[in-house]
Amino acid sequence: MKKNLSPGRVLFSALAITVLTLTACSEPKPEIEQRIDEILSQMTVEEKIGQMNQLSYGDVAASSMADDIRAGRVGSLLNIVDPAALNELQRIAVEESRLGIPLVVGRDVIHGFRTIFPIPIGQAATFNPEIVERGAAVAAREARASGVHWTFAPMLDISRDQRWGRLAEGLGEDPVLGAVLGAAMVRGYQGSDMSAPTSIAACVKHFVAYGAAEGGRDYNSTNVPPYLMRNVYLVPFKAAIDAGAATLMTSFNDNDGIPGTGNKALVRDMLRDEWSWDGMVVSDWASVTEMIVHGFAADEREAAMKAANAGVDMEMVSGSYLEHLPSLIAEGLVPQKYIDGSVRNILRLKFRLGLFDNPYTDTSAPSTDYAPEHLAAAKEAALQSAVLLKNDGVLPLAESTRTIAVVGPMADAPHDQLGTWIFDGQKDRTVTPLAALRESLAGRATVLHARGVEYSRDRSTSGIAQAVSVARRADVTIAFVGEESILSGEAHSLADPGLQGAQKELIDQLARTGRPLVLVVMAGRPLTIGDEVKAASAVLYSFHPGTMGGPALADLLLGVASPSGRLPMTFAREAGQIPLYYNHNNTGRPYQGNETMIDDIPLEAAQTSLGNTSYYLDAGAEPLFPFGYGLTYSTFEYSELSLSGDTVPVGGTLDITATLTNTGSREATEVVQLYTRDVAGSLARPVKELKDFRRVKLAPGASTRVTFTLTTDQLAFYGLDGTRRAEPGEFRVWIGPDSSTGLESSFALR
Ligand code: GLC
Repeated sequence: MKKNLSPGRVLFSALAITVLTLTACSEPKPEIEQRIDEILSQMTVEEKIGQMNQLSYGDVAASSMADDIRAGRVGSLLNIVDPAALNELQRIAVEESRLGIPLVVGRDVIHGFRTIFPIPIGQAATFNPEIVERGAAVAAREARASGVHWTFAPMLDISRDQRWGRLAEGLGEDPVLGAVLGAAMVRGYQGSDMSAPTSIAACVKHFVAYGAAEGGRDYNSTNVPPYLMRNVYLVPFKAAIDAGAATLMTSFNDNDGIPGTGNKALVRDMLRDEWSWDGMVVSDWASVTEMIVHGFAADEREAAMKAANAGVDMEMVSGSYLEHLPSLIAEGLVPQKYIDGSVRNILRLKFRLGLFDNPYTDTSAPSTDYAPEHLAAAKEAALQSAVLLKNDGVLPLAESTRTIAVVGPMADAPHDQLGTWIFDGQKDRTVTPLAALRESLAGRATVLHARGVEYSRDRSTSGIAQAVSVARRADVTIAFVGEESILSGEAHSLADPGLQGAQKELIDQLARTGRPLVLVVMAGRPLTIGDEVKAASAVLYSFHPGTMGGPALADLLLGVASPSGRLPMTFAREAGQIPLYYNHNNTGRPYQGNETMIDDIPLEAAQTSLGNTSYYLDAGAEPLFPFGYGLTYSTFEYSELSLSGDTVPVGGTLDITATLTNTGSREATEVVQLYTRDVAGSLARPVKELKDFRRVKLAPGASTRVTFTLTTDQLAFYGLDGTRRAEPGEFRVWIGPDSSTGLESSFALR
């Protein structure tokens, strides 16, 4: 049986390949370093500081921006996507400033530029690095053609809190999934040559632990201790850096009292000195001067000093570098070598992007926006990002279906279907589920439509009767519910991540018709939808699926394709359970699953009669759906787990194999997952950790042996002594369909 490489191994081998490639393209190239030396030797202090200054186009009057560029006071712009306007500003930089250093232009191209892909958390649900890399490559091609050189993505913030609005922009709760997919995004954006007209520089963000915001409230403080930082939150960043990420952005949050933008230990000491990374660090929007608000700097001068000394090369829009660095350098409060190092990093980025040789955007090239192959890639990503959570057999819809009722606020919501962080997507290019179903079913079935609830927050129930009326006339009702795009993304956290407005009432009344009810959820986060899942015959979760979400969902509902997505985040039953995630530590009194729940507690129950374990009397400790969970239109069986040995030496490898059989009646794709548990370590270790995964497509009745080759490096972690290594001892291992189940065995690391 051909042993195709799984993403975990792909990551390892990709890193190997990337290291080789990078040795070619990112290890300082002598000819670039020489050209940097030449330019640096000619620069005044003011010109050096000018390179460290980034402005947002439109925030500054055009005339003063032109003057600033001409005077060498601007190194970068963001938020300009008009290539002609950019070429004029670039002309000023190249032809009218003293040294002719080109501008580098950044933009938030988070999940597509014009062609919008599923939001990143949805792309994570594909568990498919190829899909993610392809999406980034499409975005890069469309963005570079509009004059964008640099995207502020991928966002690699691990999140374990379903209240946090920016989880929409991330890759979920697991470090390995985030590492594999984050590295894939970097490769997609940057390609093999960042100077190509189809590549843009990636920017891994937000450095670091921004997703651990206390209470899931955006921008809030985080309190991630060193081991958790190293073993969870930094893992995707290290993988993306190893994959050649050209830039990195510091985070808004203070961790343990130190804002990311002033954290010298993490930026200069670890990123530069320990990881030997030569990319460019940019602050987040005004995060330098926000250190005053944090109470970490007394004024803009101290903020500039702390950010520059921490290793932040470029200041996004707050202007304190331009204002204060000259005197800080003159007084020796910021070493000149730090400034030279930052300017070197900025110039290196511009050389790698080819901007010195080709600073202008070719406006004569035919547009590739929405190219057929881009739309096809976006549709495939949306297909693979949808997760089937429940199905009593109503899906895929039977050929005999003659009348379908399409209801809900998300059935025909071209703006909201695109999700958050859409600066350049165009809603008039969105294909909605209503439009796609009408097209797919033309001549085959009647599609009735009623919104029932106008938009996700709409509390009015006045439209529900009409929705119920069309449901009564249909063979099946498909209710498209979820969240408007504004309800997730930056600064959009929810205390209660459930369905808003009158959507619950709509679903309840539709269920009371007794007709088969399918829920399709488009949201920016895992919602607490336990009651709605109970009420429905089937539930398909598509996060926000992007431009081609309609055709993808229509194909899934009609059985043209089978769902294959898996949950990249745990779904909580109740908001009060949050944070809730699979790779938690065991505690000394773990939840057993048979605990007495609140309605079953006898009167005057004795103090310790319920058993002292870790759970909520009113909500247990089980999730609604576990990490990695997802159904298909077939069924799969795992059998014959075998290990190539029951002990493995440090530095060795272990093959873990299981037979996977498609026991259903349709071809389908299973995402086979490999988990391990380090039973005892110098630190308490998580009850399970994803180590590898692989998408396996099988025809009905077919079987295959799936083998993962586990290296002991995949078992390594930063232990009590602060070094990263795999500690000898007992390990458990599972191969299965998600984080809650699977075939189990064990082995010893010697
Ligand atoms: C925002 C975000 C960051 C984004 C930047 C530029 O506030 O935190 O992710 O890239 O500003 O828009």
